Amino acid sequence: MSKQKVILCEGLGNSLTLAIEQCPHDKLFILTDEHTHRLCLPQLKDIAVLKNATEIIIGAEDLHKNLETLASVWQALSGQGATRHSLLINLGGGMVTDLGGFAASTFKRGIAYINIPTTLLAMVDASVGGKTGINFNGLKNEIGVFAPATSVLLETEFLRSLDAHNFFSGYAEMLKHGLISTPEHLAELLSFDTEKIDYVGLKTMVGRSVRVKEDIVEQDPQEHGIRKALNLGHTVGHAFESLALAENRPVLHGYAVAWGLVCELYLSYIKVGFPKDRMRQVIQFVNENYGGFVFNCKQYDRLYELMGHDKKNAAGIINFTLLKEVGEICLNQTTDKATIFEMFDFYRECMGV
Ligand code: GLY
Repeated sequence: MSKQKVILCEGLGNSLTLAIEQCPHDKLFILTDEHTHRLCLPQLKDIAVLKNATEIIIGAEDLHKNLETLASVWQALSGQGATRHSLLINLGGGMVTDLGGFAASTFKRGIAYINIPTTLLAMVDASVGGKTGINFNGLKNEIGVFAPATSVLLETEFLRSLDAHNFFSGYAEMLKHGLISTPEHLAELLSFDTEKIDYVGLKTMVGRSVRVKEDIVEQDPQEHGIRKALNLGHTVGHAFESLALAENRPVLHGYAVAWGLVCELYLSYIKVGFPKDRMRQVIQFVNENYGGFVFNCKQYDRLYELMGHDKKNAAGIINFTLLKEVGEICLNQTTDKATIFEMFDFYRECMGV
């Protein structure tokens, strides 16, 4: 898998012009959803290289991350004369970059694409690392391919208009990057003033956060080993996300990850000796900023079963990434059902739910 360029923009116009110039093409397409078409695309209107770009607009939110929307993008590309040498720009959150990346990497066996993520979650996670795909058969990201964008352009100015929920959703993935990298990076994340955001400081931290992911993806692009470190918090997080969806009370991905981190840090403490004081610091941050996901002991079996469905498991064994210390990653950890139920008890007690 070729390495993608991830650029922390000083000015989106210049970075995008350069990225497009470095990618010879015949026709240029720009994919947005109905929100980014209205709110973000106008901010690109003075960029000369985009003047002749053909717009493709899809429905917003995860609900539209499906085969039908994907087919509509293929249809638009085909109907408007895209060739194997065309270039697609994806402007939006993770749904647009995942679906657009998949559309591009399958159209005529693959055309080049550039990601311009507009949410914090997409900037620090979804748009970087080459995972593309759609939901299918009720399962998230069930169909997809590894196919990196040619360039990913991070314009943190978009974050100024992000609502608090989407800010915290992305921030959970940054916390995860802090936990799997260095105590210094984790400390700056935990002490960041999330009530009065310093956007210049945030930009620096986004740059650091993305570098953590880039370094890991470069070592293991297709998740055979160390890339599993990026799954910290996700084994339990995905189960919370699925339960919430099934019970008609959906939660944003990053919230589920933040609550999943609380659980998986407890497992890290119990099983591989993660320091208790650090675990408490992270739990306090999550408690103060994310609240708690409410469930009771009658739902433990259901959560356990949902954890078993995670596509990162093999041979029916629930796979965890745990930490011995900040940055000391223990891959392919397993545990028994009783310990997982104990973990749920711990979570409910410390989160007060
Ligand atoms: N979101 C985790 C990964 O890209 O591997």
